[in-house]
Amino acid sequence: MEQTERLSAQGAGIKRAAELLAEGRLVAFPTETVYGLGADARNDRAVAAIYEAKGRPSFNPLIVHVTGLEMAEKFGIIPDAAREFVQDDWPAGLTIVVPLRDGAGLSDLVTAGQKSVALRQPRSELAERLLRRFDGPVAAPSANPSGRISPTTADHVISGLDGRIAAVVDGGATTAGLESTIVGFLGDEPVLLREGVFQVPDQMQRQTNAEGHDVQAPGQLSSHYAPLATVRLGAERAEDGEVLLGFGEVAGDMSLSPSGDLVEAAARLFACLHEMDACGVTRLAVAPIPNRGLGRAINDRLKRAAAPK
Ligand code: TXA
Ligand code: MG
Repeated sequence: MEQTERLSAQGAGIKRAAELLAEGRLVAFPTETVYGLGADARNDRAVAAIYEAKGRPSFNPLIVHVTGLEMAEKFGIIPDAAREFVQDDWPAGLTIVVPLRDGAGLSDLVTAGQKSVALRQPRSELAERLLRRFDGPVAAPSANPSGRISPTTADHVISGLDGRIAAVVDGGATTAGLESTIVGFLGDEPVLLREGVFQVPDQMQRQTNAEGHDVQAPGQLSSHYAPLATVRLGAERAEDGEVLLGFGEVAGDMSLSPSGDLVEAAARLFACLHEMDACGVTRLAVAPIPNRGLGRAINDRLKRAAAPK
C-alpha cells in the first residue's frame, strides 16, 4: 500500500502530477470522458504497474494520450483519412487507432505487442495542461479496478484505487462521463471499433459483435501478437531443441525476471517474445509463473501464445 495523494487542479498539483509521471509512478487524472489512470507510455515498469493496480487479468492495448497531432505523429503514422478528423482541432472524445511508427519508443505493453497504436488528445483543460507539463505520451485506461465501472470523479477513483496509485488530480466531475469513441484507420476505410462520446458519420463501417454493441473486446483481437515459435508452458527445464524463457529460480536461456518479480516479468514479456522471434526460435518453453496478481495477466497472455496456431 502507498499513500495516494489527492492533488489540486492548480499549478502546484499539476506540477507534482507531472513529476510523479516522470518518476514512473501512476497518476489518475480527469479527461473530458472519464478519469484515466496514467503512466509514462515509454516506461515498461510504469505501464506494467497500471495492470497491477487495476488487477486486470489480461493485457489489453492501452490508449496513448498526447498533446495533439504533432506529438501523435511521433508514435503513429497518421493516414489522410484520420488526419481529416483531427488536423484542425482534435475532437473531444475521439481515439484513433493507426499504424505504429517504427522506433516510436513506446512500451510493448502499451500496444500489447501489436503494430498499431491508439492515440487521443484529451480535451479537458486539466488533462491538456498536465500533458503539456509532462511533455510526453501518457498511457491511460479508465482509472477503475478491473471489472468495475469507469470513474467520473476523484472520489470514484479513490474508492477503487486508494493505496494502489501515487496520486489523483482532482478536477471535479468529468463532463462526458462516457468513454471515448474509437475509430480504426488500419485499412482502406475507417472502422468504428467502440461507440463513445464522439459521434461518427452514420455511414461509417461498424465492427460490432452479435449484440450489436461494444466491439473490439480486446481479448478477441485477432491481431493479438503471437510469437512464431510453438510454446510449452510450465516448463522447469528445456527439452531437446527448446529455448527456455525463465522466471525466478528457473534461470532459462533468458529470464522474464531472475528475482521472480511479477512487475518486471510483465514489463519484459513482449520484449522477450519479440526477441525469441528475432533469434529464430521455433520451440519455446516457458517457466511456471505464479498465478497471482500480475501473474494472471502474464499467464493469460502466455496461454494465448501457446494456443494452436
Ligand atoms: O475515454 C477513454 O477512452 C478512457 C480515457 C481514460 O482515455 N480510456 C479508456 O481506456 O476507456 P480502456 O483501456 O478502458 O479502453 C481502451 C480500449 C480498449 O478496448 C482497447 O482494446 C482499445 O482501446 N485499444 C487500445 N489500443 C488499441 C489498438 N491498437 N487496436 C485496437 N484497439 C485498441
Ligand atoms: Mg475501462
